[in-house]
Amino acid sequence: MQNFDYMTPTRLIFGKGVISKLPEVMRGFGKKILLTYGGGSIKKLGLYDKVKELLKDSEIYELSGIQPNPKYDPSVLDGVKISKEKDIDVILAVGGGSVLDCSKAIAAGAKYDGDPWDLISYKVKAKAALPIVDIITLAATGSEYDSGGVISRTETNDKIGYMDPLLYPAVSFLDPTYTFTVSKKQTAAGCADAMNHIMEQYFCEDSTLLNDGFMEAGLKSLMVNARKCLDNPEDYTARAEMMLDCTYGCNAIYSLGNSQSGWPCHGMEHALSAYYDITHGEGLAIITPRWMKHILSEKTIDRFVKYGVNVFGIDCKHDKFDIANKAIDETYKFFESIGIPMHLKEVGIDESRLGEMAHHVAENEGLENAWAPLNEQDILDIFKASL
Ligand code: NZQ
Ligand code: ZN
Repeated sequence: MQNFDYMTPTRLIFGKGVISKLPEVMRGFGKKILLTYGGGSIKKLGLYDKVKELLKDSEIYELSGIQPNPKYDPSVLDGVKISKEKDIDVILAVGGGSVLDCSKAIAAGAKYDGDPWDLISYKVKAKAALPIVDIITLAATGSEYDSGGVISRTETNDKIGYMDPLLYPAVSFLDPTYTFTVSKKQTAAGCADAMNHIMEQYFCEDSTLLNDGFMEAGLKSLMVNARKCLDNPEDYTARAEMMLDCTYGCNAIYSLGNSQSGWPCHGMEHALSAYYDITHGEGLAIITPRWMKHILSEKTIDRFVKYGVNVFGIDCKHDKFDIANKAIDETYKFFESIGIPMHLKEVGIDESRLGEMAHHVAENEGLENAWAPLNEQDILDIFKASL
């Protein structure tokens, strides 16, 4: 087991109706609030009106229109501008991972005198950030319980995971009923994203029985509950369990003491969604089984056998490579069965820029140091196999 130094300072307030605590929570941070949200789902949900009513005694400024794969320009820049001009005390992010990620970059940018891209690109380390409270409305990223935000810069095709302990939300409200309206497409993509977060921690050199059990349960829970959410979008119990599976996903709690995997599928997918603005979870679902096939070898086989036997119930007496290949096929079939398009061409990506993207990933993601190292040719082969 590896050494670790772990703290998640985020307060989680979970369950039906917990929003009633919002006024009390927000009072602790000050009067001037920057309310951030996306393209309007929170208005359809009635959540926008509810928040405004609960916080009628506060001074609220708004940043709306934050897009999926949130953009540095205009969203981060606009949010930083408002925060500085209005001397904002706290950000209240209401929406999916994109809204929250964008708010994290704004929180750091608001306390920095230079170009916020200096922080996101790790040229400068942030010294302070505004506190963030969020009401998460989509189960997927785990941004509500981690210190990262993923920001896209269109003109350079960059999509950077910006992490800093200053960016943990102070408080996250998790009410599963707010996810009842999430579309089938986004529910399935959220499931694939969260499953991949677990796999990125599971497929590594050094793990423990404890962590393996936790992660295998997480994967099984996601598969069972995502299906239930798709069949009945208002199944509270299924939405609730899926929400927690996702919340645990990215803050390392699933894998404390494990060695690093290098998060290869995320490294590759971030190029796809940077170049083509596709849905992150769909890109991951497409890449994951092709990556698995590509790295399957005598060195990696034992993790795949464990995955196949414990997650998919494949008979452990079979040949090791048969178990591994069946497990990979089951992974593919599961994603396909929940309605995810399983080929890059189906999400608008053809062969024309695969080489360019593979080069970008090889230059920027450090995947030569992953558990199963990937060079530019490996990445290109995985992209080609995903077409
Ligand atoms: O914009 P609105 O109108 O709010 O609609 C959104 C958006 O169109 C909609 N939506 C959200 N909640 C809804 C809803 N529709 C109906 N009912 C609701 N309750 O769903 C669409 C997608 O929203 P988005 O926030 O983009 O989805 P998600 O939460 O999957 O976030 C994806 C982003 O997070 C990044 C991804 O790369 C991507 O940019 N990630 C962030 C991570 C992190 N911070 O730790 C880790 C992940 O690996 C991931 O990379
Ligand atoms: Zn992800």
